[in-house]
Amino acid sequence: MSLLEGRTVIVTGAGRGLGRAHALMLAKHGANVIVNDLGSSAAGEGADQTPAQEVVSEIERIGGKAAINTADVSDWNAAKEMIDQAVDTFGSLDGLVNNAGIIRDRMLINMSEEDWDNVTKVHLKGTFAPLHHAANYWRAKSKAGEKFDATVVNTTSHSAMFANIGQTNYAAAKAGIATMTIVAARELGRYGVRLNAIAPRAQTRMTEGLRELTEEQERLRAPDWIATLVAYLSSTQSAPISGRVFEAWGWGYSVLESWQHGPRTDASMDPTEIDAEMKKIVRFARPNAGIDRDTWHDV
Ligand SMILES: NC(=O)c1ccc[n+]([C@@H]2O[C@H](COP(=O)([O-])OP(=O)(O)OC[C@H]3O[C@@H](n4cnc5c(N)ncnc54)[C@H](O)[C@@H]3O)[C@@H](O)[C@H]2O)c1
Repeated sequence: MSLLEGRTVIVTGAGRGLGRAHALMLAKHGANVIVNDLGSSAAGEGADQTPAQEVVSEIERIGGKAAINTADVSDWNAAKEMIDQAVDTFGSLDGLVNNAGIIRDRMLINMSEEDWDNVTKVHLKGTFAPLHHAANYWRAKSKAGEKFDATVVNTTSHSAMFANIGQTNYAAAKAGIATMTIVAARELGRYGVRLNAIAPRAQTRMTEGLRELTEEQERLRAPDWIATLVAYLSSTQSAPISGRVFEAWGWGYSVLESWQHGPRTDASMDPTEIDAEMKKIVRFARPNAGIDRDTWHDV
């Protein structure tokens, strides 16, 4: 039996890039896939159903089952309809891959209100809205006594964990998604839902043109092997893994180890008294991880 036989999975932003690779990998391993994509530009403008339709056709060509959904994932009611569509079309919903995203990079000084609102809306609300409606569907099933293993894979970014300059909107949204994943995993475990997040690095429309890539770097940045991890995390084989954030980059998967408590000192009622101790604990603390320091391995 295939890894995902009989499971129905929604992939958002599945018309292009990483989402397309996820949808094809899931279908190849037996899942019924709802291919969601608004078909907007990389900056979140416009709409076009062609990319999503092409992915549905590709899945059907390899003998898989898929249906198109062209909702804006940050639209509350449309997100609910997408969950309903999966259940009406394929009989159940077993997995959700929140992948849709846009980018509007600017230095903070030049970032407009619109740049902030659009990016945080697509990523944060566009992850929360499908998750909220799917979680309600799963809770109702669980309360009805059904036993199942539902999975959610959210998409965060190195930009959030390692503080990429020029992306205050995107990094803040992606950090929110990582934390949302961990909190939701703690809340929804009792209903049979596991949640994990990935921080991918791949050559797609979102990253093309940032710099020249060698042939080897192109290979390392292919979305396909990142889709392997998404398919695994969307399968029952990955149980009981939940509440973890995985990096997928440079042909490798790693687990992020989250925030840790660092050096500590006693509190005081007097702000003039704590300088020496504060400087000491900062001196002894490990520096923040930075994208330009310990994580950049030229991939
Ligand atoms: N490419 C990378 O290196 C990289 C790194 C870190 C994180 N990510 C994340 O991976 C995800 C996929 O990015 P990608 O690189 O494949 O980019 P992409 O631009 O190729 O694909 C994103 C897709 O999302 C769709 N989309 C955008 N807004 C939508 C909305 N409101 N509703 C539904 N669909 C919408 C777009 O139409 C597009 O097809 C994003 O969340 C991105 O932030 C990518």
